[in-house]
Amino acid sequence: MEQNVIISRDLRTELHEAVHRVQPDRLFVLTDVNTREACWPVLSAFFADSTGEPAPQLITIGATDEAKTLDSLAAVWTALGEGGATRHSMLINLGGGMVTDLGGFAASTFKRGIAYVNIPTTLLAMVDASVGGKTGINFRGLKNEIGVFNAAGTVILDTHFLRTLDSANIRSGYAEMLKHGLISDEAMLTELLAFDLEHPDLEHLKAMVAKSVAVKERIVTEDPHEHGIRKALNLGHTAGHAFESLAMAEGRTVLHGYAVAWGLVCELYLSATRCGFPSERLHQVAQFVRETYGIFPFDCKQYDRLYELMTHDKKNVAGIINFTLLGAVGDIRINQQASKDDIFEMLDYYREG
Ligand code: GLY
Repeated sequence: MEQNVIISRDLRTELHEAVHRVQPDRLFVLTDVNTREACWPVLSAFFADSTGEPAPQLITIGATDEAKTLDSLAAVWTALGEGGATRHSMLINLGGGMVTDLGGFAASTFKRGIAYVNIPTTLLAMVDASVGGKTGINFRGLKNEIGVFNAAGTVILDTHFLRTLDSANIRSGYAEMLKHGLISDEAMLTELLAFDLEHPDLEHLKAMVAKSVAVKERIVTEDPHEHGIRKALNLGHTAGHAFESLAMAEGRTVLHGYAVAWGLVCELYLSATRCGFPSERLHQVAQFVRETYGIFPFDCKQYDRLYELMTHDKKNVAGIINFTLLGAVGDIRINQQASKDDIFEMLDYYREG
């Protein structure tokens, strides 16, 4: 998978280089209603003084995962068509994971695929969604049910955008960094568990973002289409997606990373009982998650529904729920099956500790 991931030093230059490399006939920028206000002015200033590039046409969709729909996707296709986009046009996705996922899917399917660039503006999108080529939308109440693998040509990570991000969204992205630490090494996990998220030092965070993205890039380069080791990146997501889908169905809003953090606790419990993951590390992570993300309230009457939601996970084969677990920090065990009883016991642990 060819993907140029840049930890930004000078966004203006890097952006012009990314456009120049493709020489598009028309240029489009996708934002949501929030990044149009908070982030687009930064980019639009860069284009105002440039010559030799087509003037960008702005497309805006609704914010949050609620807008990650077929209707929003159709609106982007329509705007591209009405704006005269051709196969040689380019889309720049400026926003969080919803914008980079949906915009990436729109670009990958419009006229069978046009060039695109991701400029993630949230921590979640920087360390996860914008890198590695997963694109898509939610469908029939299921997360990322429809989509394709197709990587952005360039991803530019500029942590200056994090200055406008609220603490809940910083925490949300941080859960994916925690996951990267767990699948990587003890030193990285220790650094993550010690970081002060109440008063984040953005310079330190930037260095940790670079390390986190390097973990993801290494895995995605090895297995771009998730036939094997890329499943490591799903640690915490089998249970996490079920929590997220349940919350969505009940009209409770939870940020993706919060659901992943809760899912990590569940799946580290399974890792401890089935693969020997050290219980001391499990308790440290569980305590960090409780203090940082609170708890997701549900009762045993919802176990069947959560189980049913897990049966839709994309890693499953022939309806058998397939987890990624750990034997220790960095010791990845993919394709671990768990029975309904195991899963109910895991949910008991989550609720009762
Ligand atoms: N978010 C997990 C992956 O990109 O594979």
